[in-house]
This record gives sequence, structure tokens and C-alpha cells, in this order.
Amino acid sequence: MGKTYRIITYGCQMNVHESEKIAGLLEEDGYVPYSENEAADVVVLNTCCIRENAETRVLGNLGILKKEKENHPDMKIVVCGCMTQADGAAEKLKARCPFIHAILGTDNLDKLPQVLAENAKKTRIEISQEHKLKENIPAVRSLGVNAWVNIMYGCNNFCSYCIVPYVRGRERSREKKQIIADVRELVSRGYSQITLLGQNVNSYGNDLGDKNNDFASLLSDLSDIEGKFRLKFMTSHPKDIVSQTVDVIANSDKLSHFIHMPPQSGSDRILKLMNRRYTAGGYLEKVAMIKDKVPDAGLSGDVIVGFPTETEADFADTLKLVSVAEFANLYTFIYSRRSGTPAAEMDGQVSVADKKRRISELIDKQFVISCRLAERCVGKTYEVLGTEYKKGKMIGETKCGKAITYAGSKDAVGKFVSVRVTDNKNSKLYGEII
Ligand code: 5AD
Ligand code: SF4
Repeated sequence: MGKTYRIITYGCQMNVHESEKIAGLLEEDGYVPYSENEAADVVVLNTCCIRENAETRVLGNLGILKKEKENHPDMKIVVCGCMTQADGAAEKLKARCPFIHAILGTDNLDKLPQVLAENAKKTRIEISQEHKLKENIPAVRSLGVNAWVNIMYGCNNFCSYCIVPYVRGRERSREKKQIIADVRELVSRGYSQITLLGQNVNSYGNDLGDKNNDFASLLSDLSDIEGKFRLKFMTSHPKDIVSQTVDVIANSDKLSHFIHMPPQSGSDRILKLMNRRYTAGGYLEKVAMIKDKVPDAGLSGDVIVGFPTETEADFADTLKLVSVAEFANLYTFIYSRRSGTPAAEMDGQVSVADKKRRISELIDKQFVISCRLAERCVGKTYEVLGTEYKKGKMIGETKCGKAITYAGSKDAVGKFVSVRVTDNKNSKLYGEII
């Protein structure tokens, strides 16, 4: 029996997929997944640093693991992911938690087997700032309906609140032929949904130096792959989503009509301070363009409340934008000061009390909108992909990204069926197969 591994993942889908690659590297090296009631030989924490609470959770978990390691001295704890790349973070973590075996940067995962083979007493740090593209890292994908495929890494946008460009480096697009080969292989292996990942998928190809090799053409080529599957992608920066891309979405039988396009704020003044490079009006024009070409589009977004200097009037503009855009889902965040970003140095930090009040007002507003949108679905029939079997029921997803619960057995996971929506309870949809 090989040594066992456990991976604890924090943060976004990008990290979820990266953990699949970490599992791939470990299994290639002879490690096997741990079973839950045992201590693993290797514990990898794949971290996130987008907001302070993500970091707090990592540190809390390291405290628990320290105790576990006291009972199992041979346990090797490895920390990787975004938190390790922030300026000076690895050295600080090493000083605070000397029981960590190794700290690996986001582009140093391939060093994992080598680092685990060592028995050094001191924490080993491997962090490169080069952010080179590495292909052919094997992935142990979670068995299920969806498979993730990176189309690009990094970000060039430098939104003033965001740490991502500092920890993930500049945009690097993968070669189209590699992406096509990945998707083709995953479809042939039986995945019914493929989700393309990038911080800003709409700038895919900008760094490849071929104008014809853009996101719209990538989507178009991927939709030509044979087989019955659904193609999703995230995230779309509003300034970069163009009508050619939306045309491909409208005309393809494979592409999902779900679009994650975060507005972040509805105040032009705050959007400028955020360095988002669009206005609230410009954002809503993109929404209108999408809904015109794809009438059943399901829109989701992210909003940050309490950005430095945000006034009640700015926040009222955000509420207004949220009303007009009619998001099916909205992810709401309290602004978190990230050291090293321009916004962290801005005057006019908003009080915790104001941030909390605003976020709860925003959540209440969105709840009413989600219920209203859900009510419009009652009586309609959708093609649904079964994604999960839970508590004796199936949960599936429509082409526009709505979740519907319906009666079905476990073997309906991964299957497409027609479901009529019969009920809406607090924005949750229920239906029956027809
Ligand atoms: N504080 C709060 N939310 C943030 N996000 C990014 N950086 C911060 C921050 N410093 C949010 C944005 C982004 C999402 C992934 O996380 O809304 O779209
Ligand atoms: Fe962060 Fe902005 Fe890049 Fe998104 S687009 S990852 S919010 S800098």
C-alpha cells in the first residue's frame, strides 16, 4: 500500500482544477488518496488570498494540522497556491509555521514529488516569479459530469483591489490545438460538460500574436467537436466581451447560455477607482447586447461593497445596476484590503458596520430579483443536464445555468432530459421529467 495524500482546496474553480493536477502528480509518484478517518502521510493545502478570510481559514487549518503532526511526526505538510506568491508571504509563513515541509509557488507544482522525497528539517521554499506555461501535468479529475480545462493563466487587468495579477502573473494563453485536444479527449471519456477557465477568457489569444486566434474562434472550433456535451466558460470581463463571441454562443448547440460577467460596482466613480475601464452604462449596454442575441441568457456577477470612499450614493447606483441587469445569481463580497494593491493605500476605507449593512441590503435586493426570475420559469420546459444526485433527488442544470431539482435515479447523472418546471420555492426550482 502506497503512502497516502490529502488535498485541502481553498478559493476558485481555478484552484479546484489545480488540485486535480496536484493529485495527478502525487498518484503518478505512487501516492494514494487517504481515507477520512486516518491521518494522511502528505497534506497539501492549495491556498487562496483573494480576501482576508480565505487566508485566515488557511492559518486556522494549519493550527489543526500542527496538532495532527504532533501525533504523526512523519506527516509532511505542503502549502501551495496563491497565498505563497504574495510578496514576502512564504518567508513569513515559514517563520510562523516551521513545521511546514515545503512551500511551493503556483508555477512550481511540478517540484512536488522531488520535494516530498527529501527529509530536510527546515521548510523548503520553491517560488518562481516567472510564471511559465507548463503543459502535460497529469490531472486526476473528480468523477462526475464536469471537467475543467484551463485556456489561459494570469491576468493583465490590475483592478485596483485585486491581488490576482501579482500572484498569478501576466496572461498566458494555451495553444488552441492543445485545448481542442483536451476537450476532445474529455468528451470521449464521457464528460457531459466542459468548463473553460481563465481570469478573463475574453482576452484569450491576445498574447499569441494571431488576431484570428481569439476567444470567439476558440469557442467556434470547440463547438465543432463531435458528441453531445455542454461547453461553459468563466470569467468574462465586461470590457472585453464582444459581439462576435456572443454570436458564437447564440448560434452553437453546445455552448451554455450562462455568462459570468462581474460588474463589481454600479457607480462610475467607484468603477474608475477600481480601474475597471467601463461605466455602469457601458456594462448595461453589454447586458442588453447579450440579451438581444441570446434572449434566454443566464447572467451572473460579482459585486464588491465598501470599496474605499464608497458613499451611500455610490452604493445606491450599485443597487440600481443590479435591478436593471437582473442577475440570476449574484456573488456579493465585502471589500477586503489586500496589501500590495493600489486600493489598500487609498484613503476613505469604509467602516465594517457600513460594509455589513450594505452587503445585507444587496443580498435582500438580489433575493427578490432571483425569486422574480425563478417565478418566470414555472410552467416552462428546459433541456436539463443531470449534474448531481442528492438526498434521493436529481439536480440538473439548464442551458442558461439554472438549477432544477427533479425526481430521478442516480444513473441520470450526466444525462440530458427535458424537465418542466412545476414550482419555485424561494428562487429554487423544482420540476418533472416529461
Ligand atoms: N475584496 C473583496 N472582493 C474581492 N474580489 C477580488 N478581490 C477582492 C477584494 N480585495 C472579488 C471580485 C472578483 C471575485 C473573484 O472576488 O468580485 O470578481
Ligand atoms: Fe482580479 Fe480584475 Fe484580473 Fe479579475 S480581471 S482577476 S478582478 S485583476
